[in-house]
Amino acid sequence: MSLYAIGDLHLSFSTNKPMDVFGPAWKNHVDKLRAGFSALAEDDVCVLCGDISWAMNLDEAEEDFRFIDGLPGKKIILKGNHDLWWTSMAKMTAFLERNGFESISFLHNNAYFYGEDAAICGTRGWFYEESKGVAHDKKMIDREALRLETSLKAGGERDKYVFLHYPPRYGNYTCPEILELLKAYEVKICCSGHLHAESLRWAFNGWHDHTKHICVSGDGIGFKPCKIL
Ligand SMILES: [Fe+2]
Ligand SMILES: [Fe+2]
Repeated sequence: MSLYAIGDLHLSFSTNKPMDVFGPAWKNHVDKLRAGFSALAEDDVCVLCGDISWAMNLDEAEEDFRFIDGLPGKKIILKGNHDLWWTSMAKMTAFLERNGFESISFLHNNAYFYGEDAAICGTRGWFYEESKGVAHDKKMIDREALRLETSLKAGGERDKYVFLHYPPRYGNYTCPEILELLKAYEVKICCSGHLHAESLRWAFNGWHDHTKHICVSGDGIGFKPCKIL
């Protein structure tokens, strides 16, 4: 059993969204994803770090979820800024049950136990620069920090592995609210996505305090899930 992560599948089976806006790496990216996931076994777990589907609602996202469900291993999904289909946990869980998507679950104010002593925690996170008003930023960051802490607490005494959509460090930018939580809960590894094409050069891969940060954006890792454990 292994733990993997990849962000930004940006699927569009029902919405026909051209992906070349993200650069040449996205040519045939669904085929690359299929090939990348072929290394996984059924008892492996892969966290999908947001920007899952271009769909605007769950009905529209059904074919994208069918593709994800067909990939080997268990898939744990968290929210990205483009996941406009995201709704309440109750509605999303009912959607999974209705469609028989048994290999998929959602990471949202919760945690999943992995192996003997690891916990999978996470939330979307936030970029200061994503919105203009400072007060609005602060509100969003505080809300995301609260969600992350709820998830970390749900992990109990286990070693914490955190998965975010927005990187808490990027170029000269840092998100202290998130980084402080990673430190306080002695998080081992923090994976994030969101960055594409040119912006990948500013991705932070390395150590901050005692947490190892890894950028797992799909195009940054050739659409091959990154092995975490
Ligand atoms: Fe994103
Ligand atoms: Fe993305």
